[in-house]
Amino acid sequence: MTTMKSSLGVFVGGTQTGNLSRHGDGDYLFRRLGGDDDPAVVSLAWPEAEAEFLSPRGVLHPVFDQCLPEGALKRHLQDAFFGTLRNKDDMTLLRIVGSSLIGRLRFAENQDSLRSVPPIDIRSEILKSSSGEVLKSLLERYAQFSGVAGVQPKFLLRDEAVQNDHTLTLQGATHIVKTFDAAEYPALALNEFVCLQAAAKAGLAIPNVEVSDDGRWLSVERFDLVHAEAESRYIAFEDMCSLTGRTSAQKYDGSCELIAARLRDFSSVFHDDARQFFTMLVLNCVMRNADAHLKNFGLLYDTRGDVRLAPAFDVTCTEVYPEIERRMALRLDGMDTWPDAPRLERFGVEHCMVEPGAVRGIISRVSDAAIESLALLNDARMPQTTARLMRFAVESGVASMQTTQRRRNSAPAEQPTSSLAETAKDFADQLPIQREPEEDGPVAS
Ligand SMILES: Nc1ncnc2c1ncn2[C@@H]1O[C@H](COP(=O)(O)OP(=O)(O)OP(=O)(O)O)[C@@H](O)[C@H]1O
Ligand SMILES: [Mg+2]
Repeated sequence: MTTMKSSLGVFVGGTQTGNLSRHGDGDYLFRRLGGDDDPAVVSLAWPEAEAEFLSPRGVLHPVFDQCLPEGALKRHLQDAFFGTLRNKDDMTLLRIVGSSLIGRLRFAENQDSLRSVPPIDIRSEILKSSSGEVLKSLLERYAQFSGVAGVQPKFLLRDEAVQNDHTLTLQGATHIVKTFDAAEYPALALNEFVCLQAAAKAGLAIPNVEVSDDGRWLSVERFDLVHAEAESRYIAFEDMCSLTGRTSAQKYDGSCELIAARLRDFSSVFHDDARQFFTMLVLNCVMRNADAHLKNFGLLYDTRGDVRLAPAFDVTCTEVYPEIERRMALRLDGMDTWPDAPRLERFGVEHCMVEPGAVRGIISRVSDAAIESLALLNDARMPQTTARLMRFAVESGVASMQTTQRRRNSAPAEQPTSSLAETAKDFADQLPIQREPEEDGPVAS
């Protein structure tokens, strides 16, 4: 039986700020190092004056839990590294990936044990590669450098090309490279690519993204890495699980109102960020993304004085995948059914402080962007069935906004256009069964 040192150094931007240790029966304790008058922020959700934080309910602190791998990556790490270790828990997982995580927190026994991420040529080894062994090879080489959440298999990689441009101090990952199980989620990378282009057309910030030649990989530039003249550095990222005191396991336990409230609590530019968040919400409704949970929104910052919403990421049209429930991941107004335009408008005005005259403009801009993005479905790498299902889902999302807007204006509701009606008829039997809306009460937040 192998034992490891029971405490783990916690680093912010390369400087140790505290220690994490096991405490009592399954609890974890974070303790700041003393002597720093102006300690770096570890979590915006923690009171500034406190020096110790005991993890709630015997699980890792949400800000440390937020970058732990999930799904296939987590299983691979457990199989490859847990072996004879005595503590097979989340703190051990954190220790394994501790040198390379999203955001600026790092975990290691001491400064010398923080490791650089080995560089790779993402273009030739992944985006242009025709080898069927890419996933296996990346799991072996990069799983231990991939402190990143999410169910789809993914890696944090340091691209050689970026390294050449920024030769100074950057030793960490520059990109997230994701793949998927094609039997369960056909064309997921292209689906996400198209949705992110819709986000950009709608005026939202998105990271640079690229799909591999074989359509099986999506390479996403990290938005928490800032390239400045003197050096490149990571800034802090906290997702809405961390900011609401939840772990990854609780990512569906929340509401749009809760996110708006956290933006009000923490954002340094609330009006801008709340408007962006409202635009993201409209986009998710129109593109029929039923997986916009708490980990798919987050804040970026250096200090408590410059906190802002992270760009849009992980937007997909989930309606084309029968395994995913056809309802919103988070509640709006206490319900998880897709909202119509009046419900969205109310949320925009009441929770995001968007001017009543502007909410409709946002809905129509996002709708136009969604329709424009559908041209990208003609990509030869996109299977025709998935393309048609996605076109139908998005056109229905857009139509639902228009119909309800017209109804509100007392004009007679228009029937869907004939092409839409035909598509609907063609594909109705291919789509998963629509469930009745649930009559849930509002979620306390
Ligand atoms: N461009 C980016 N820069 C930095 N961090 C990012 C970026 N994109 C995503 N992340 C982080 O990586 C995590 C996983 O990414 P993503 O949500 O795309 O994966 P996923 O497997 O599709 O997720 P899910 O489990 O929601 O389906 C996010 O929760 C976020 O913390
Ligand atoms: Mg995600």
